[in-house]
Formats: sequence, structure tokens, C-alpha cells
Amino acid sequence: MKILSIETSCDETALSVIESDGHTIYVRGNALASQVALHAQYGGVFPMMAKRAHAEKIIPLLSEALEQAGLLVQGTTPITDEQRSRILTLCAREGNIAQDIFSFVESHDAPRIDHIAVTAGPGLEPALWVGINTARILGELWGTAVYPINHMEGHIISAVFEQKSDKEFALRELAYPTLSLLVSGGHTELVLSRRPLSYEKIGQTRDDAVGEAFDKVARILGLPYPGGPKISALALEARTSDMKPSFSLPRPMLHSGDYDFSFSGLKTAVLYLVRDLQKEHSDILENVGMLRQIAREFEEAAVEVLVTKTLRAVEEYSAQTILVGGGVAANAYLREQLGGVTSKYGVGIHFPSSNLSTDNSVMIGMASCYHAMHRDTKAAPQAIRADGNLSI
Ligand code: KG4
Ligand code: ZN
Repeated sequence: MKILSIETSCDETALSVIESDGHTIYVRGNALASQVALHAQYGGVFPMMAKRAHAEKIIPLLSEALEQAGLLVQGTTPITDEQRSRILTLCAREGNIAQDIFSFVESHDAPRIDHIAVTAGPGLEPALWVGINTARILGELWGTAVYPINHMEGHIISAVFEQKSDKEFALRELAYPTLSLLVSGGHTELVLSRRPLSYEKIGQTRDDAVGEAFDKVARILGLPYPGGPKISALALEARTSDMKPSFSLPRPMLHSGDYDFSFSGLKTAVLYLVRDLQKEHSDILENVGMLRQIAREFEEAAVEVLVTKTLRAVEEYSAQTILVGGGVAANAYLREQLGGVTSKYGVGIHFPSSNLSTDNSVMIGMASCYHAMHRDTKAAPQAIRADGNLSI
């Protein structure tokens, strides 16, 4: 089975072609354009700016992914006037994308793929629509089924496959129930699965997501967006030089008795800490030693809350496996802490390979393939809508 997958939920435009034999997934084509440099100037992602950047990149990336997969064949796929006008009515807001797709389709043979998978949410709706309408138009013109995929399910499934080589991922045998810790720029969730494809959210953040807190703290410290990798690098420097912070930050909701999180207060605590420190030394943000200490204390506070709540949920639900997904799953300290303590509990723990932690389209293809492996496919392309708040 060959799948073309499309991801445009936030600030990465990504398209992949994956092939599966029912157990192993082979990445045949993978093209990604990051908007990080664009958004870095503003310290965050503006939805309409993200949408424009997706619209500019999506057809060149489609072409690149198909070419890598050996599926880009010059030729022609005819488009009827009726199809053309129906598509233009349906995708009125994406008129320019539709025209680009018409030109692409008319100058190439329809690729031999079984279906198209596209992220339907959660995410930024204007950005999601670019991917969804591209998928719908291609599906219509190529006569190919289109399936919507939940972005958060993609993050979970990225940990369900084990990387065997650069482009090869094998399905893991998982012991159930599994508990997924989803940690990204928009989400912090604990999701229980009693069997494959069943998802029960048992906790989530009440305000900021943990990745968002990393990004906001980085901003307070004068570091560029996205802040996660930078904070993590500074924290590591503090730990390797055994530089212990001379202050402490709160561990919000550590003992709340539920599985919810809150990271906004932690970010504010960093803001007040910096202000207090600046009263004594106005150039505190130029002092790399101080930045390292703040980064370390912040990272350790955030990770302690994530690890403690995850392990408490493991106990309560007798989870056998922990899956970690989302951009913050790339965080080395989280991996080390969670990996270290889970061996004590006798549970398996799986992280996505590092190139699948942050947003990508391979995970969307994987999730769609996973549904197909369980014979759970529901095609209704006309009904696919962008849902910014789509829940798992
Ligand atoms: O999953 P993702 O790529 O996008 C969303 O769906 O939100 O996650 C992006 C988030 C950003 O907030 C970024 O700062 C964070 O993941 N991130 C990290 C690390 N790498 C990325 N946070 C902590 N440590 C990292 N190494
Ligand atoms: Zn994500």
C-alpha cells in the first residue's frame, strides 16, 4: 500500500510518500519546508502568515516527494470543465492553490498511490485548510480516496513504529494498556489506550502547553524561537558543569491529584525571577552562566511534573507501555528521566526517532497506514473539515 501524506497544521509544510507491506513502513519520499525562520522574527506563529507560506510551498514539495518516490511522471491527467468549476466553488478561498494544482495535474500522470492522508486538526485552521484542500483536489482529480488524520494521533503513532534504518520503520508489538504522553507546542496530554486505535484523554494542560512554556521562557531570556532546543542545550551545559541554580521554581499541579497540567504559572515565575535578578544585575541576560542556571531549573521543574504525573497514571491504570510524542519528546532530559524511572516500574517506553518528534508528514502517513492495518478506514473526502480544536 502506498500513501501520500500531507501535514500543514502549524509551521511545517510536509509531504511524504510511504509504502507498507502490512508490517514495515518504507519512506519513499519526504519533503519538508520549515517556516521557523519566518516566524522567528515575530517570536511566534501568525496563522495567516503560516497559511501563505504553506500555499507557496505545497506544490513544489508535492513534486519533490513524488520525484523521490519515483512517482513523478511527465504526462497528463485530463480535467473536465465540470470538475474545474466544482473544485473552484468548493475551494473558493484557496483559488490560487487550485490553479497551481490544475497545472500540476495536467502536466503529470496520476501517481500510483492507494490513498491520500491529510492532517485535519488540531492546529491553525487557515494553515490546515491548505493541506486539506490540496488533498481534496488531488483526490478528486486523481480518483484517489482521502482520509483525515488527527495530528495528535500522528504524534502517538510515530512512537509505535521502531526505526530500523534511515527509511524503514517496523510496527512494534505493544503491551496494553498504553499511556501516551503528548508534549508539543500546542498540547500537553496524557492519553490512555486500552487497545489499538482507542484513545481516552485522562489529562491535559489547563493553560499553556509545555512546548509553549519552553518557547515563552526562551523569549524572556532573549533566545530565538523555537526555544525548546536552545533551553535544553543551556540546561545541559549547566548540568555538565555541575552548576546548581541558586533559586528554585515551582512545580505546578505536582500534587493536584488529577492528570491535568499547568505551565503558565511556571513561565510567569521565570519572568518574575528574571525581574528580581535584574534589580541586582541589570545585565543578567548577558550572563551565560545565569541563563544556564535558569534554563536548568525551568527544564527540571517542567520535566519533574511530566514524569511524576505520567508515572502516577501508569500505576493507576496499570499501563504496560509508555509512548511519548510531540516536539518536546526530542528533549534529552525528559528522555533520560522518564527512561530511567520506567525500568523500575517494568513498563516499556518508546520515543519517536528524533526526526519524527517535531511536526512531519511521515507520522501522518504512518497513522493512516496504522488504521488501514486495523482495517479501520473511513473515506468521506467532501466531509473533511479543518478543526483547530480537534480532540483525540
Ligand atoms: O510537535 P511540534 O513540532 O509542533 C506542535 O505540534 O506544536 O512541537 C514544537 C514544540 C516547540 O514548542 C519547541 O520548542 C518544542 O517542541 N521542542 C522542544 C525541543 N525540541 C522541540 N522542547 C524541549 N526540548 C527540545 N529539545
Ligand atoms: Zn505537532
